[in-house]
Amino acid sequence: MSDESNTAAAKSDDNHYTSILDYMTHDHQRCDELYAEGEAAALEGNVEKATELMNVFILNMVRHLDLEEKIIFPAFTEATGMSGGPVQVMIMEHDQMRDVLTQMKAAVDASDLDTVTGIGETMLILMQQHNMKEEGILYPMIDSHLPDRIEDLIRQAQSIKTA
Ligand SMILES: [Fe+2]
Ligand SMILES: [Fe+2]
Repeated sequence: MSDESNTAAAKSDDNHYTSILDYMTHDHQRCDELYAEGEAAALEGNVEKATELMNVFILNMVRHLDLEEKIIFPAFTEATGMSGGPVQVMIMEHDQMRDVLTQMKAAVDASDLDTVTGIGETMLILMQQHNMKEEGILYPMIDSHLPDRIEDLIRQAQSIKTA
């Protein structure tokens, strides 16, 4: 944990956000930055730093997927009755991403940096495609269906920390 204060992980997400789109897009960007930092360390061949940063990335990705499934999506489903459609598709994609994260974690634990960055490429593609759909479709739908719950949902999301 030598220079954690310089990493994206240490950047606060306790700012004030006025929409789910705003907050969650910020969290997507934060996870992207965490990956980029881990990848840079892996490409330098710095095993210790890459291990630390990739573990931070994985934990923050798991946190993001969990907070969507435990807080954001259920609130939307409850308010609209729409449990199929976009929410169902996003949850299926989360399961796919969790499988890839599990593979990444095994490679990190084995200090196999080539495999980490190789699997990481797959992870990045999945994230890009997935995040585009959430930011373009689902988050705006949530914002428009739940105007009175936005503040409370963001507060709940901010209270979830990584494991
Ligand atoms: Fe998601
Ligand atoms: Fe997301």
